[in-house]
Amino acid sequence: MLREFLISLRTRCAPAFVHLGYRYAAVACVGRAARCAAAWSPHQEATRRRILTAMAEAPAGRGTAIIMGSGPCLDLPMAELLSRFRRLVLVDVAHPPAALRLARRHGAVQLLDRDLTGVAIALGDPSRDDLPEPGCADFLDDDDVGLVVSTNLVSQLPLVPVRQAGRRWPDADLPAYARRIVNAHLDHLRGFDCPALLIGDVQRRVIDPDGRVTEMEDPLFGAELPMGEMEWDWTVAPVGELSNGWSIVNRVRAVRLDRS
Ligand SMILES: C[S@@+](CC[C@H](N)C(=O)[O-])C[C@H]1O[C@@H](n2cnc3c(N)ncnc32)[C@H](O)[C@@H]1O
Repeated sequence: MLREFLISLRTRCAPAFVHLGYRYAAVACVGRAARCAAAWSPHQEATRRRILTAMAEAPAGRGTAIIMGSGPCLDLPMAELLSRFRRLVLVDVAHPPAALRLARRHGAVQLLDRDLTGVAIALGDPSRDDLPEPGCADFLDDDDVGLVVSTNLVSQLPLVPVRQAGRRWPDADLPAYARRIVNAHLDHLRGFDCPALLIGDVQRRVIDPDGRVTEMEDPLFGAELPMGEMEWDWTVAPVGELSNGWSIVNRVRAVRLDRS
């Protein structure tokens, strides 16, 4: 508790995003990552390996890499990214201490506080009377961008907006709204003319103490993601993290979506 409080104090997050619960979620994720380090390590390693492959296909002469959903940067091949790119932009609604340290140590690292759904601020505006449409065009006009990676972000994107929307517009079709948020992110990535790699959950399995799958959820709310080049399991909640021997395993897919 005290540890998470201290991490929270040192996490950079704009007040509007704090108010929406993004800092709380980011700090909880840092805590979970520490508790589940051994179980998460193969997933983080697979993410890093796939990023290295996409990096090798970045057009020569382009000096900027964009990492979306960078958070504590546990899944990034940081040394290789820094040796290949002049500018590394870490985009997130909340930057935990590990990201702040990277920015302090390396002039190439820039932190950008940004909501990649495009709807968070509007959903927090009490004077608004309609559901804002998701969408983001950040960096599409930057011709120095040679690599874009959405790192374990896509399934997180609908969470806060759907909660907010549900409070304000309880009769809205929230699963459809969540799907539009996911699709807007996929469309954003499809707009780049350099490798734009998405790594994210495509399925969530809840497993009982006897190893039986009791629930299977679609974290993308029906949005269609092409088959990727690689898939793997991520034991996101190993036995011991939840009570009474239950666990959760996510299926993760890596897929390039760019138009190059
Ligand atoms: C599962 S964490 C992954 C973090 C990082 N890739 C890692 O593994 O170390 C998801 C990240 O998405 C970020 N995130 C959630 N919603 C976001 C939004 N609307 N815009 C930008 N980032 C968001 C969270 O703050 C969090 O850092």
